[in-house]
Amino acid sequence: MATRKIVIFDTTLRDGEQIPGAKLNAKQKLEIALQLEKLGVDVIEAGFPCSSPGDAQAVKTVAREVSKPVVAGLARAVQKDIDICWDSVREAARPRIHVFLGSSDIHVQRKLRMDRDKALNLAVDSVRYAKGLCPDVEYSTEDASRTDFDYLCRVIDSVIKAGATTINIPDTVGYAVPEEFGDLIVRLREGIPALSKVTLSVHCHNDLGLAVANSVAAIRNGAQAVECTINGIGERAGNASLEEIVMTLRTRSSVFGVHTDINTKEIFRTSRMVSRLMNIPVQPNKAVVGANAFAHSAGIHQDGILKDRRTYEIMKPEDVGIMEHTMVLTARSGRAAVRHKLKDLGYDLDENMFQKVFQRFINVADRKKEITAKDLSSIVEIEMSKVPETYTFLGMQIMSGDQTMPLSAVRLKKGEEILTDAAIGNGPVDATYRCIDRLVGHRGKLLDYDLKAITTGKDALGEAMVRVEVEGKIYSGLGTSPDVIEASARAYLNAFNRFFANNVE
Ligand code: KIV
Ligand code: ZN
Repeated sequence: MATRKIVIFDTTLRDGEQIPGAKLNAKQKLEIALQLEKLGVDVIEAGFPCSSPGDAQAVKTVAREVSKPVVAGLARAVQKDIDICWDSVREAARPRIHVFLGSSDIHVQRKLRMDRDKALNLAVDSVRYAKGLCPDVEYSTEDASRTDFDYLCRVIDSVIKAGATTINIPDTVGYAVPEEFGDLIVRLREGIPALSKVTLSVHCHNDLGLAVANSVAAIRNGAQAVECTINGIGERAGNASLEEIVMTLRTRSSVFGVHTDINTKEIFRTSRMVSRLMNIPVQPNKAVVGANAFAHSAGIHQDGILKDRRTYEIMKPEDVGIMEHTMVLTARSGRAAVRHKLKDLGYDLDENMFQKVFQRFINVADRKKEITAKDLSSIVEIEMSKVPETYTFLGMQIMSGDQTMPLSAVRLKKGEEILTDAAIGNGPVDATYRCIDRLVGHRGKLLDYDLKAITTGKDALGEAMVRVEVEGKIYSGLGTSPDVIEASARAYLNAFNRFFANNVE
């Protein structure tokens, strides 16, 4: 039986990117956008073009390069915003202008300092203006879940008449609960006959941890599109997570009777890419994509899994693209084997990138006996996310222990020059970071530091993620190595290289 299609609107590059320190440049946005296209999302919200000229440029780049999904830009209900937004998305194969304005009294009266009628007129004028530029116009009634129902209906009815083709109902502050939110969708559909002619969408935030529950409740009650982000990243507690919604709809298809066009096998790779490029670690117990999502530790569970995986697994790891198969490479694996495995993992690298990956693979494989699929993916993604290196990491040595003052010596290369220095610190990482500060001539303030093992086992590859403030701006960095202090050093240097890439010396 044919099922209802749910439109997946991804806002990782807009709502997700609003997290401090997660800012992406145009190249990084494009990389994620192309992966989202591979994942099969229907709409990519590429940014908020009027927020900065850099973001407008990034949205333009995405609009030019992405061919299948609709490319949307966000705009306030202000002509100048809408113009900038249109200029950014107009080259897309399928452009969309997404206009939003507060509709709850607290937003209308307190934030916008207007009365309801004035806000409604502004909404209508803005949609009409946007429609004159672009046939595909989405309108969001910001803070819909806290809006007076009759006023909400008036706004929606009016903006549909002005030309909106998608109506989005946001639970902006994550206040709704599932039954109530599902009910709101039913009441809106019953109360506004014109809604049947447009796409009805929802956009839920996770302040009470209910974003996914509210989204699927809305879908069950007739919403046709859902706005979400990879890994659930976004303002405050985040947005509804794309992977959780998609896998809920798929795993419980008998309950929902709907489908999406998402290629679920691309979920894990997309999750890793977003985590790396935006420098936001995924919590280990995160549903669907967390490191423990498919790990079974209790003996009784392991016993069940060995007898029949279905005892404790409702989804297969491979369905979301987690490759459990024991693909093991060693330092003796030649280029052809590595190339073959990369292809297997879905990486299509040009020769230049392949050489960089191979060099790093050899370097890691010399110290770690076996390189797994996860190790190789980490190496590729870190190489792909690198900025031009003002400083290249050459090596390091540390002296540490409970009776000695931690001392770190680091060797870097800048152009043709080899730079070496040493520093002491409160611990080996601190000493290393102090040493790098001296070598690069700037002081970094470490805001976040996350270190995790990519695989299990004592010789697992360590992956470090940092956020560093340099000269008042925040830069993220990533590093990987079998040696965790070296991974930390590489991550810190990667953040500095981002600083230098933005501030040519
Ligand atoms: O949360 C929200 O209300 C939004 C709108 C702009 C859709 O992000
Ligand atoms: Zn939002």
